Amino acid sequence: MLIIESVAALRRAVREWHSKELSVALVPTMGNLHEGHLHLVREAKRLAHRVVVSIFVNPTQFSPGEDFDAYPRTPAADAEKLREAATDLLFMPSAAELYPAGVDATTFVEVPGLSDELCGRFRPGHFRGVATIVCKLFNLVQPDVALFGEKDYQQLLVIRRMAADLDFPVRIHAVPTVREASGLAMSSRNAYLTAEQKERAAVLYRCLCRAAEAIGRGDKDLEHIERQQIETLRGAGFRPDYFSIRRETDLAPAGPEDSRLVILAAAWLGKARLIDNVRLTRV
Ligand code: PAJ
Repeated sequence: MLIIESVAALRRAVREWHSKELSVALVPTMGNLHEGHLHLVREAKRLAHRVVVSIFVNPTQFSPGEDFDAYPRTPAADAEKLREAATDLLFMPSAAELYPAGVDATTFVEVPGLSDELCGRFRPGHFRGVATIVCKLFNLVQPDVALFGEKDYQQLLVIRRMAADLDFPVRIHAVPTVREASGLAMSSRNAYLTAEQKERAAVLYRCLCRAAEAIGRGDKDLEHIERQQIETLRGAGFRPDYFSIRRETDLAPAGPEDSRLVILAAAWLGKARLIDNVRLTRV
């Protein structure tokens, strides 16, 4: 596995692969890798000849006062896991390498509408930072396919829109959420939870499943379902940001005619802001 920190060396490596007509998959991450990330890497191996994984805790997607400094950084352990998963190239740039003009003076990519909903409402500027860094990585790596987790469903849609609007010749491949045995979605931020909180955190997924079941049983009062689950979360010690039933394709509020839905939730438990979602088809 090549470990590369500079943009110039990254470009050289991928240029050589492209010249040999080898296909390239990209898996962007912020590190502190868990089974969810490794699942993306293994899937990437299946889809392309060469796999590039990036690890970069991207400062532009954190708002002031968020956990940028506290975000868990475990580069040596991450590199070991990626080597075992047969990654071809690990790209671990510094912030100066990717934002030479500084994070405040850089050019940004905005995906309107989608970025202002749900998590965007609670984390202003977050999806602008995500769209910008992913756009830069697409330009640097020029991947044939890029893999993203459904766990961050809104992020996945923002990136699909960005790639379509800016004409990137890349296939965006979505990978289902990898969960603990309890149902809790794996996340680097689960490291902020105590052992007791980690057990309780599984309530978030259970609430999403319960809401999906209610809709499946034919309950049409979506706002009532949302309110009920927000109360359940509060009762379990969460501080919910939102619990919302949306249209799967564009995250517009679900109307009575919509059949393909996604239920998304974000809630604080202790120091961790947890997000999760489930999709369902209403018949
Ligand atoms: P990060 O949170 O490290 O996640 C990297 C990728 O792994 C994302 O596509 C995310 O959806 C996926 N992922 C995380 N947990 C998962 C799980 N339990 N199951 C399946 N996939 C999972 O998301 C980011 O980093 C950043 O915003 C990034 C896209 C790298 C831009 O900085």
